[in-house]
Amino acid sequence: MNGIKIRGTGRGVPSKLVTNRDLEKIVDTSDEWITARTGIRTRHHCAEGERISAITAQAARRALEDAGVSPDQIGACLVATATPETLVPSAACALQRDLGLPQDIPCFDLNAACTGFLFALHTMECLLNASPRKFGLVVGAENLSRVINWADRGTCILFGDGAGAAVVECREGWPSISAVLGCHGNSELLYLPGPESEEHGYLSMEGTRVFKFAVEAVPWCVDQVLKKTGRTVEDIDFFVFHQANARIIDLAVRKYHIPPEKYYKNIAEYGNTSAASIPLVLSELREQGKIGPGSRILAVGFGGGLTWGGCLIEFA
Ligand code: COA
Repeated sequence: MNGIKIRGTGRGVPSKLVTNRDLEKIVDTSDEWITARTGIRTRHHCAEGERISAITAQAARRALEDAGVSPDQIGACLVATATPETLVPSAACALQRDLGLPQDIPCFDLNAACTGFLFALHTMECLLNASPRKFGLVVGAENLSRVINWADRGTCILFGDGAGAAVVECREGWPSISAVLGCHGNSELLYLPGPESEEHGYLSMEGTRVFKFAVEAVPWCVDQVLKKTGRTVEDIDFFVFHQANARIIDLAVRKYHIPPEKYYKNIAEYGNTSAASIPLVLSELREQGKIGPGSRILAVGFGGGLTWGGCLIEFA
């Protein structure tokens, strides 16, 4: 199988900035508690009337521009999301329309919660191998503020909205991204009911148990990707971790002795944006010139489902 590489990235960020101090007015919490336990200081939420579909389209347009790829060159479009604006049309079909992507290509949404972007990258690699068009659009987009239970201080402080996008290219002879992906069905640790459910459509979570799961899942994914690719920690130019809690990232960094110039945290500004978190990081790193042509990136995600995954992806 031929591999994919990233050609360009982009992001879309909602306008409403919610600070920890703002949350102090809603639930019994404090800026100090949130900062110390999570590393989060602000998060962006969609303002009234602001649509996640427009933010998704903005991220995708910027990624196309960054890649120098036109919509008619796209061979497949995937949106990883658990909070699409509408179930039908899917967020990916809406993008097909908004961006004028070709009509003879697969466009669909994929839900693997916070691991969604990595599931989508792997799926895109498979799709592009069978496509005459060699560029793909992979987006992670979430509108989690819509499903927040504002009475639950254990979750309402954590989540943000946003969209990140990558244009990838598939070429003969390029190595596969060697994705390792896993799932373990579990409704107790993290749960978001469907729209037809009798329950309120709020997200609920057993934070401490999810934390424990995450600190085991992250090294498992790192080890598996290194083993599958025959690489060592030193071979990696940048580690990109899902931004769920700064402490989870710090533990991984310590375990693998990753130097500060090889990892990144933007959770202080965005909070946990689930499927959007990894592409938001990629887009900021790209803009800051920290990753670019030739960079070898090890990305790791974990989250509801439960799901987890990792891959090694290069910048073209
Ligand atoms: N402000 C103040 N106190 C809070 C609080 C808040 N926002 N949220 C919870 N607390 C309280 C709890 O009620 C508890 O009080 P108690 O000891 O009197 O019962 C205490 O703080 C400790 O709560 P706990 O849930 O054990 O804290 P924690 O250290 O596990 O941190 C999370 C909570 C959610 C930050 C942490 O568990 C976490 O990040 N989990 C993983 C989240 C994650 O990755 N989720 C998405 C998967 S992608």
